[in-house]
Amino acid sequence: MGNCMYRCNDGETDILQQSVDNQLSNMSSVHSSYGTSTFGRPTTVATPTTSTTRTSIAQSVASNGDRSSSVYPIHNNEDEINRLQLMHYMVRYGWEGNFSAPIHNILKAGKAKVLDIGCGPGTWILEMAADYPHSTFIGLDNSPIFPSAIKPHNARFYQADVHDGLPFEDNTFDFVHQRFLALALKEEEWVPLIDEIVRVTKPGGYCEIMECDFEIDKQGPVTQTLVEAVRTCIQANGVNPYMREKIEELLSDTNMIVDITVNEKVTPFGSWGGRWGELVSDGLRMSASTFKPIIQPTLRLSDEEYVKAINHAVTQEMNEYRSETKMYRIYGKRKTTTVPTE
Ligand SMILES: C[S@@+](CC[C@H](N)C(=O)[O-])C[C@H]1O[C@@H](n2cnc3c(N)ncnc32)[C@H](O)[C@@H]1O
Repeated sequence: MGNCMYRCNDGETDILQQSVDNQLSNMSSVHSSYGTSTFGRPTTVATPTTSTTRTSIAQSVASNGDRSSSVYPIHNNEDEINRLQLMHYMVRYGWEGNFSAPIHNILKAGKAKVLDIGCGPGTWILEMAADYPHSTFIGLDNSPIFPSAIKPHNARFYQADVHDGLPFEDNTFDFVHQRFLALALKEEEWVPLIDEIVRVTKPGGYCEIMECDFEIDKQGPVTQTLVEAVRTCIQANGVNPYMREKIEELLSDTNMIVDITVNEKVTPFGSWGGRWGELVSDGLRMSASTFKPIIQPTLRLSDEEYVKAINHAVTQEMNEYRSETKMYRIYGKRKTTTVPTE
């Protein structure tokens, strides 16, 4: 699977490892108490406010009811794992780092616990575990594409579905990270997941959510057709392609996250954007194969026509139009004190 560069620490009686193992056995019991379909309801999260976004999403939950079906449209095969690994390196290159929240010193000091939600092949976790050997890193994904046997002593992976709640106790993590999960969540699933993120983050800890804009700016006609096809398919699944715009407000509405910061990065497609643009294009080209089974029927293109359209959009059009999008990291700190309610 391409993640076997780490040696196992078999037999190493490491106190951190022990604490993770304890944590993992706790997870199982917490997990089973969540039942079959709904999110674990946090006891420590403030009562939702009545902001428009949160209220409209809550109404949507009430009218829809079903939150349990998975809408994630992508097959986690070998190509997808390669794509996610490439995307990881592309993101790290463009952002010059794996996260934006001010947690370097906390992680460096050691004994910090970090969760990555929807960790995929675990590339982020493996790198972070190597960068901060005295902290503990846990990746969670509902698809077991993460390393199962060979991993650093301070990294663990756990198979779980976010729709069942996060299988951890309250106030467990110093940092909770979630990147590119937008296609896996219906609009109404965001509020309960954010509540869960807040619940498992320690007071004074940070959470960070990374997503990108769905739209491509300055796009040519072929690009526009491809983007529209993706939009049609994901909207049919109940996914709001513009959810990224609401994340800051959703975090703020919990009344538990402060110092919310939104960092954005213009992300060019193509060699006109230098090395960064080339990497982004490579990622997009691989995404085209990922999305092929999803959008090809809508586009009614043969295999050959599909490949031609992608090549035209990525190699020619995006350079000609100087197409770009934006990526965002939205992070905040969990309040250290709870304001007493009347
Ligand atoms: C686009 S990938 C992002 C992977 C990783 N965060 C990264 O940035 O490289 C989305 C990941 O979310 C996982 N996923 C989808 N639905 C999920 C769910 N309901 N619960 C947990 N993980 C889920 C997928 O298996 C996939 O690995």
